Amino acid sequence: MYRTHTCGELTMAQVGKTVTLAGWMQRSRDLGGMTFIDLRDRYGLTQLVFNMETNAGLCTEARKFGREFVLQATGKVTERYNKNLNMPTGEIEIIVDEIKVLNVSATPPFTIEDESDGGDELRMKYRYLDLRRSTVRRNLELRHHMAQEVRKYFDALGFMEVETPVLIKSTPEGARDFVVPSRLNPGQFYALPQSPQTFKQLMMVAGFDRYFQIVKCFRDEDLRADRQPEFTQIDCEMAFVEQEDILQAFEGMLKHLFKTVRGVEFTEPFVRMTFADAINTYGNDKPDLRFGMKIHEVTNLVKGKGFSIFDNADYVGGICAEGCSEYTRKQLDELTEWVKRPQIGALGLIYIKFNIDGTLKSTVDKFYSPEEIKALADNFNAKPSDIIFLLPGKKKKTLAQLSELRLEMGARLGLRDKNTFAPLWVIDFPLFEYDEETGRYYAMHHPFTSPKIDDLQYFETDSARVRANAYDCVVNGVELGGGSIRIHDQELQQRMFKVLGFTKEQAEYQFGFLMNAFTYGAPPHGGIAFGFDRLASMFAGLDSIRDVIAFPKNNSGRDVMIDSPSHIADEQLKELNIKVEVKMEKS
Ligand code: AMO
Repeated sequence: MYRTHTCGELTMAQVGKTVTLAGWMQRSRDLGGMTFIDLRDRYGLTQLVFNMETNAGLCTEARKFGREFVLQATGKVTERYNKNLNMPTGEIEIIVDEIKVLNVSATPPFTIEDESDGGDELRMKYRYLDLRRSTVRRNLELRHHMAQEVRKYFDALGFMEVETPVLIKSTPEGARDFVVPSRLNPGQFYALPQSPQTFKQLMMVAGFDRYFQIVKCFRDEDLRADRQPEFTQIDCEMAFVEQEDILQAFEGMLKHLFKTVRGVEFTEPFVRMTFADAINTYGNDKPDLRFGMKIHEVTNLVKGKGFSIFDNADYVGGICAEGCSEYTRKQLDELTEWVKRPQIGALGLIYIKFNIDGTLKSTVDKFYSPEEIKALADNFNAKPSDIIFLLPGKKKKTLAQLSELRLEMGARLGLRDKNTFAPLWVIDFPLFEYDEETGRYYAMHHPFTSPKIDDLQYFETDSARVRANAYDCVVNGVELGGGSIRIHDQELQQRMFKVLGFTKEQAEYQFGFLMNAFTYGAPPHGGIAFGFDRLASMFAGLDSIRDVIAFPKNNSGRDVMIDSPSHIADEQLKELNIKVEVKMEKS
């Protein structure tokens, strides 16, 4: 037996016992005639003690060990003189009688402790060492716990976990595919699934009316803190259901996870908000409801008073930041620069201060009477000590800018607490999105999403107006999941392809297998997928999903540890009948 206990479990209850532990040497300290070693394993740290007076040979040997040596130590559990009540094993230490070096270690490139001196790239390169740090390990433990609870929840409801293939044909999710050449079929490629969308629908045709899978998905997108090229979904599909059944089932899953993993109980149903309301009041389709600061449109109140910037604007809207009327010139200039950054793109920032003494002061006093300014302030329900920020412009763009400003002010005012959770369902998404550049409609979710029956009348004539039976689950401004009720009617599916500009041949080539399957009695069905990495990073209170992934990619999509992607040998290329010609972009 390598060990009788782990490094995280010994307490006063075992004092007097002889135990054997195995683990890595985190650090060692020589204090006078004593040497102390912190021995680490997955479960925690235990202090080992060596005494020069009582066992000089052993103590001398212990002083030779380097960081991360793998050690096996046997000794007696003893009450500590200097207790550390911040750690579970902090009341005891092991007076070592026997120590064995199970393996030596090169000096690690950074300190493997909760606070590390290693930068991001270095820790990514040596991710297996980074994973030894308890802060990183705990994130994976949390993720494991969540996965177990997801499985428990679905199993209890009769869902079946089914694995779907990874080498498939392009799925219609809208991002770029990662492709894999086929040796046996020269010149042809598999695509890695952006999601198991078509397969889960085929499972419904096959009669498995409750499917789920915790599954890897692959999308060749530009990366951000909440995006990885390979990520994990909790993917689900149900047959013989309507939108309401799906929302209930998956709201239940989130509530179960929050309760069992985070100890947070939601007794009320999640808020539901239409896409149109989300856009008009929060400026985007994933509103952060941890705080108010709603966007108000004031176009009609401000136009026609001679202020050309407002007069020429398609839309004027604003937000009211509570308690900020004392913002200094410097703070306002800095915020103005912030909204003018290219990422936001506003031309400037107009404000109305509702001073503590009840007076109103604005950057547009020249153009508006005190009554008109007061009417504006009333529109926002502003009170003394508040400030109103206004932005003019094209409606869509200005709402997006106001959304950014609102989130920024929320952050500055400490209203985006990581331990507060504000979930909601965003419903009634548009079915189509018009792209000015290509001059055609795209499916906002995917081409199998069903329209609302009431809007079928506009399907071909006013496509932009058609709403979908599609929904997103949003928590704290993060889109955690999205799904829809699918089209199971062949005729409607053909109409959908037509609006999307697919020829019959194109539709047949891309989705023929699915259309064919649907001729054999597809049941009414729908589903949803949650981003598991996003969910786990939110539960862990982290800003990036990287930290809940054992071996993540960096922002250029590289795994710097295994150095991938990489070139492959000429023989491999030959076998695949592939010739590589890399076009370098001119710098
Ligand atoms: P969707 O494309 O909305 O839906 O994806 C579902 C959820 O997956 C997460 N997600 C990501 N997480 C990390 N990195 C990425 N690159 C990434 N892309 C998406 C998000 C998102 O809400 N097949 C449909 C679902 C359905 O209709 O049932 C789908 O994939 O949290």
